[in-house]
Amino acid sequence: MSAIAPPILFLLFISFLGGRAQQITLGSSLSPTTPPTSWPSPSGLFKFGFYRQDTGFAIAIWLVGNESDTVVWTANRDDGLLSSNAKLQLTKDGSLLVQTEQGKEMPIADTTEASSASMLDSGNFVLYSKNSSVIWQSFDRPTDTILGGQRLSSEQQLISGSSRTNHSSGRFCLRMQGDGNLVLYPVNTLITPRDAYWASNTYGRPVTYFYLNDTGNLAFGNSSGVNYMYRGVSSAKINAIYRATLESDGIFRLYAHYEGVSSLEWEALDNTCKVKGFCGFNSYCTFNDDKPYCLCLPGFNYTDQNDMTLGCRRNFSESQCRGGKENAVLYYISEMESISWNDINLPLLSKRMPKEECSLSCLEDCNCAAASYKDGTCFMYELPLKYIIRDTSSTMMAFIKVGNKSLNHSNDTYGPEPSPILTTSISITSNKAIVKIVCLTLGFSLFLCSSIAVSIHLIYKIQVLKYKRLLDIGELGLTEEVTLRTFSYNELSRATNHFKEELGKGSFGAVYKGTLYRGRRVIAVKRLEKLVEEGEREFQAEMQAIGRTHHRNLVRLLGYCSEGSKRLLVYEYMSNGSLAKLLFGATRRLYWDERVRIALDIARGILYLHEECEAPIIHCDIKPENILMDEFWTAKISDFGLAKLLMPDQTRTFTGVRGTRGYLAPEWQKNTPISVKADVYSYGIVLLEILCCRKNLDVNVSEPEQILLASWVYKCFVAGELHKLVLGEDADKNVLENMVKVALWCIQDEPVLRPTMKSVIFMMEGITEVSIPPSPTDISLWALTTFPAS
Ligand SMILES: *[C@@H]1O[C@H](CO)[C@@H](O)[C@H](O)[C@H]1NC(C)=O
Ligand SMILES: *[C@@H]1O[C@H](CO)[C@@H](O)[C@H](O)[C@H]1NC(C)=O
Ligand SMILES: *[C@@H]1O[C@H](CO)[C@@H](O)[C@H](O)[C@H]1NC(C)=O
Ligand SMILES: *[C@@H]1O[C@H](CO)[C@@H](O)[C@H](O)[C@H]1NC(C)=O
Ligand SMILES: *[C@@H]1O[C@H](CO)[C@@H](O)[C@H](O)[C@H]1NC(C)=O
Ligand SMILES: *[C@@H]1O[C@H](CO)[C@@H](O)[C@H](O)[C@H]1NC(C)=O
Ligand SMILES: *[C@@H]1O[C@H](CO)[C@@H](O)[C@H](O)[C@H]1NC(C)=O
Ligand SMILES: *[C@@H]1O[C@H](CO)[C@@H](O)[C@H](O)[C@H]1NC(C)=O
Ligand SMILES: *[C@@H]1O[C@H](CO)[C@@H](O)[C@H](O)[C@H]1NC(C)=O
Ligand SMILES: *[C@@H]1O[C@H](CO)[C@@H](O)[C@H](O)[C@H]1NC(C)=O
Ligand SMILES: *[C@@H]1O[C@H](CO)[C@@H](O)[C@H](O)[C@H]1NC(C)=O
Ligand SMILES: *[C@@H]1O[C@H](CO)[C@@H](O)[C@H](O)[C@H]1NC(C)=O
Repeated sequence: MSAIAPPILFLLFISFLGGRAQQITLGSSLSPTTPPTSWPSPSGLFKFGFYRQDTGFAIAIWLVGNESDTVVWTANRDDGLLSSNAKLQLTKDGSLLVQTEQGKEMPIADTTEASSASMLDSGNFVLYSKNSSVIWQSFDRPTDTILGGQRLSSEQQLISGSSRTNHSSGRFCLRMQGDGNLVLYPVNTLITPRDAYWASNTYGRPVTYFYLNDTGNLAFGNSSGVNYMYRGVSSAKINAIYRATLESDGIFRLYAHYEGVSSLEWEALDNTCKVKGFCGFNSYCTFNDDKPYCLCLPGFNYTDQNDMTLGCRRNFSESQCRGGKENAVLYYISEMESISWNDINLPLLSKRMPKEECSLSCLEDCNCAAASYKDGTCFMYELPLKYIIRDTSSTMMAFIKVGNKSLNHSNDTYGPEPSPILTTSISITSNKAIVKIVCLTLGFSLFLCSSIAVSIHLIYKIQVLKYKRLLDIGELGLTEEVTLRTFSYNELSRATNHFKEELGKGSFGAVYKGTLYRGRRVIAVKRLEKLVEEGEREFQAEMQAIGRTHHRNLVRLLGYCSEGSKRLLVYEYMSNGSLAKLLFGATRRLYWDERVRIALDIARGILYLHEECEAPIIHCDIKPENILMDEFWTAKISDFGLAKLLMPDQTRTFTGVRGTRGYLAPEWQKNTPISVKADVYSYGIVLLEILCCRKNLDVNVSEPEQILLASWVYKCFVAGELHKLVLGEDADKNVLENMVKVALWCIQDEPVLRPTMKSVIFMMEGITEVSIPPSPTDISLWALTTFPAS
């Protein structure tokens, strides 16, 4: 960031040689109350020094106006305000620092070799070295504003202020991305097009910086100069000063300051409601007298009565939800019309169905907080609900689930507490190193990954991404375009504290715990080690395919890194570990009901992979170690999609056995084509393990016939002694028998005999009858020969 681009240097040099800039010599100092309180530029239009803000002072650069000043840059903006006893010094040994009342010294510029400083007429405050070259300048560290002549380089960003008068970091950012696109996002989101609310649509252009020139033109350029004019004006105001600011309401605006007054020249959006995150979680944005307002959805109350933009939380109790028809007593659906829902991040499924069914499905599903309905398609959402607008031109309906029972504040939950993402501004500590890390974790180094990776990814993105379309709810569901975030290796290394905490070892490599956004988002980083060497393009394509999967029972892929031979996947973190741990290692045996629910959850996840997602995926390695539990005890399948995508004709043969012994279908050994039925087999084994809470192979058993679970279960089934499997448990006899029959069908030797996952679910839910399964032939033979010798 400290590299100074030649054109700016040149410009500075000219003004420096012109002798207009006033030299600030070593040993100079400023104080907040006794003059001098600031150092002015030669024209007096800009000042650098102590700026009064509320009850204290900030070190800032501001543009002097007739009535009010405009702050264009703030030093250490998140360090809090300074008292009137602070002192700003350009020390004798060449550092620029502020001394607080307590005597603490905080650097303003990260250099100790300055020999003079200048406040330039461009609004740039610069430090010079002995040989008169610029070694530090405020133009290199923009806060929320760029001025005429200033550029925003690749991977730099502007962060809005908290409010008009509070210049600490606020809730929105404008990023100059490595792909050439300039994009507005709410801060602390995952920085994917899902969260973007405005973009310059310049991705793919050979540009590396965004630039505001002295006559108010917004442009993009690269090392060979400005090459794309974004906003050109023919008649510029002579002598006006141009300023482009990301304001606290999330809109990027260009102003001209002329003779002490400012006028709005251009704005990125004219509808504040379209700023994602302008209204916090669980509220919607609407206009009243042309002013944007945030209102709570039915059944929600403001989190903070004094700031309506901070979002809302449920005002009813949710603890009794059990799902199904019973819910009609606990909840009702509140309908809203003219809704426009910009959240295409769908955790629950979207489906075509009649309107009444949409409303009812949401009512009966404990995970559904609200649904939207348009043109025959129903979308269901979990908490928190976000990016909702009420707009008379929209034909979308919303069904919001509201509880009858009031919330007893001393004893309940509000659903997931709104994470700080949209509700609090970020605070950055004074430590420069931490500031850097923060910036990086916010995504500065998004495109530090190898340039090849980036360009291939870009080509893909260019075709797939239509930021504008994402803004249009009408396209929702048809596009379902989701792009993963790319990370640099260094970023992930930092996020995981140099791969310190290992969560486990999967079949593809070790998994590490990490955090993003200063600890606010916990992630699991998988380092791929044993992947077949494959081309960059194939890898990107597979990542995109995995990225497009969205299901409640699948672990979500958030992004990846591909840097040379280093390949890492970033997943959401599952706080409650694996099913293996729960089944075989827990102190408490999982209750029967919980186990049945988990078994169904897994089946639904596999069904989605096989039949409901865009490109069918064979998991190839279904086992309890690959089933993870989130904090709400929802079972989610992980590691899917890595074993190559299924070819549409389903005849692809795999070279080499993948998967884990004990769960492998016999066809792996026979070298016959592998189909989705291989997963059904593995599921059957897992189902038996869930039902009986033990491993398929266990030598520590009372009778030798029990060593192999599958054959023992079949024996019990034939003998009508299934109760032996769940001794001392309160298991429903019919459910148990049903489940066992399903499992035995799943582990049939012959793939065609095994049911599809859809039939499995129908049978488990009791929708279709389960016939008597034949003996899973060779059960013992096959399983024993494939177990490691022990
Ligand atoms: C000035 O000094 C800096 C180091 O302080 C050096 O990098 C730069 O090349 C020098 N420039 C000139 C013109 O001598
Ligand atoms: C400015 O905003 C930040 C974050 O929103 C807050 O912590 C700080 O107290 C505010 N400062 C003033 C003076 O209101
Ligand atoms: C700003 O850009 C416009 C359009 O390229 C150009 O005509 C104008 O000369 C530029 N102004 C300055 C001061 O560079
Ligand atoms: C800069 O942009 C020009 C097009 O205006 C392009 O031909 C050139 O390759 C680009 N340079 C770099 C380094 O990307
Ligand atoms: C602002 O001040 C300047 C110089 O002090 C003056 O020329 C100009 O007319 C003033 N503008 C307004 C709107 O008062
Ligand atoms: C919850 O909020 C709704 C408005 O959204 C209100 O009608 C209802 O009375 C509230 N219920 C309770 C228990 O506060
Ligand atoms: C929610 O707000 C309504 C009025 O807006 C109030 O009557 C009710 O008590 C509030 N409920 C809770 C749980 O705060
Ligand atoms: C809950 O509300 C719905 C709709 O208002 C109503 O039909 C139902 O009887 C209510 N249930 C209870 C237990 O109050
Ligand atoms: C909330 O619950 C607590 C204990 O569970 C009880 O003491 C209190 O009276 C309840 N408050 C209301 C308003 O029901
Ligand atoms: C919350 O309420 C439930 C009953 O509804 C009770 O069993 C539980 O102890 C309560 N928890 C607290 C913290 O009061
Ligand atoms: C499961 O997650 C919850 C919430 O994070 C936590 O309180 C609980 O201790 C976890 N249980 C296990 C077994 O890790
Ligand atoms: C074998 O099982 C018994 C109880 O069934 C248990 O106490 C013992 O620890 C187990 N041994 C091993 C090696 O798991």
